[in-house]
Amino acid sequence: MKTTISLSTPAELETESLVVIALNQADPAQTEKNKNKDAKPQLKLATSDPAVPSVTADLLSSGEVTGRPFETNLLHKPAGLKAKRLLVISGGPAKKFTSYDLRRVAGTAVRTLKSRGIRSFAFIAPPGIPAEEAVRAIVEGALVGNFDPDYYRSDRKDQKIDALTILTTGDKSALEKVANEAQVIGDSQNFTRDLVNEPSNRMTPTILADRAKKMCEEVGLKCEVFGADKIKEMKMGAFWSVAQGSDEPPALIVMKYEPSGAPEKPVLGLVGKGITFDTGGISIKPADGMEKMKYDMAGGATMIGAMRAIALLKPKVKVIGIVCATENMPSGKAQKPGDVQIAMSGKSIEIINTDAEGRLVLADGLFYARQLGCTHLVDAATLTGAVVVALGYANAGVFANDDAIYERFHKANAEAGEKMWRLPLDDEYKENIKSTIADMVNSGGRWGGAINAAMFLQEFAEDTPWIHLDIAGTAWMEDQKPWIAKGPSGIALRSLVEFVKSYAS
Ligand code: BES
Ligand code: MN
Ligand code: ZN
Repeated sequence: MKTTISLSTPAELETESLVVIALNQADPAQTEKNKNKDAKPQLKLATSDPAVPSVTADLLSSGEVTGRPFETNLLHKPAGLKAKRLLVISGGPAKKFTSYDLRRVAGTAVRTLKSRGIRSFAFIAPPGIPAEEAVRAIVEGALVGNFDPDYYRSDRKDQKIDALTILTTGDKSALEKVANEAQVIGDSQNFTRDLVNEPSNRMTPTILADRAKKMCEEVGLKCEVFGADKIKEMKMGAFWSVAQGSDEPPALIVMKYEPSGAPEKPVLGLVGKGITFDTGGISIKPADGMEKMKYDMAGGATMIGAMRAIALLKPKVKVIGIVCATENMPSGKAQKPGDVQIAMSGKSIEIINTDAEGRLVLADGLFYARQLGCTHLVDAATLTGAVVVALGYANAGVFANDDAIYERFHKANAEAGEKMWRLPLDDEYKENIKSTIADMVNSGGRWGGAINAAMFLQEFAEDTPWIHLDIAGTAWMEDQKPWIAKGPSGIALRSLVEFVKSYAS
């Protein structure tokens, strides 16, 4: 998708479709207080060009438009405009409208128009949001909307928007720079979604490593891939305990971004869970829904996509990306409940449940990152069903062993427009992962399951400032939404890139 910044008057622009947001000026608090949810919306278009509202006056006063978020109305041959069509998208209450909503409206515009065979359009940036923030949100949101997962359908239409014009005001070259950066981030998010979308027979650890290598070559990153022999030689007993059960060879993917002029420290480590299929192992999962476990490599794919974006955006800070990729299979070679494994750090682990495999591969991934000199760590993983019980599908779980790194991440997260919620790491939970035979067990039971998993990882991050993202509930959209297809979401990539950038300034 090509993006152009235009300072033209919307009415004067020739385009397949102009897109404008309608915001409800009625005070949402008042509407709710009066229990008058059917109160007539006071809709106003978010544009400063008076020619556009005059076209929609009849539509907006007709009573047919509710103003609810993502409602769309398409007018053809709008009088007085040079555009062939005018798409009006409701954005909800004006008072609550932020760039978070703007991303979704932009995605909705893309999905509405591309399904009609339209390839290009112009989006009016709402004047209520600072121009740079708006441009970023529109480009990123549009790219998210442009992705569809139906790769293997014979009737795949592969409809895409090819060209987006953003109508705004301000410093054109500064806004173009913002748009280019947003394009890199949005493309990288879709790159990640492509990896996550592939089924496990087409996305083995070897294929994932090959895709990472190819990407690294394209953007100029160092990339090394280690196999079973090296994993065993490095004494990654936790990682290997999962990999030993599969006929597919594991891959330890190490990507390095070392820009000239970057200080020696910090070195940021991005560690991803790359389970290309999670059967549960000997503690096998029920058949129902098991097909979804192809997305258990989403954390790893997020790190590969984030490294792509970082390499292209070139912040002056060192970053190492590590993905521990393997299948989790039951077999005659698979580990069994009760087995004791020694992690790379030397700590011993009693395997209670072979389905708690993500924390095993990450234990060695995190420790290895520290050995490579990482001073700050972030991991991302579809780690627990329990985080979905705690936070549902709306928020990813965030854990941190240090308040300063959490604050920095939280800020990056808000700027990236992703929803995440912090969960605690209190010492009380340590009880849950105590073992009688070893240093710890790999499963602390059902209660507080997402926290128990994070407590386990903390044993390997130790005192290195560390963020853990549990994206089990957010890496896959269970349903399609107006702004995004059903399937891989690409969650966390934008926050990670923003977080990395924060160390460069
Ligand atoms: N990959 C799963 C977690 C998961 C669940 C991801 C649902 C996406 C959607 C993970 O490896 C797992 O199986 N976790 C177990 C841990 C338990 C055995 C302690 C779980 O959550 O049930
Ligand atoms: Mn599992
Ligand atoms: Zn898993």
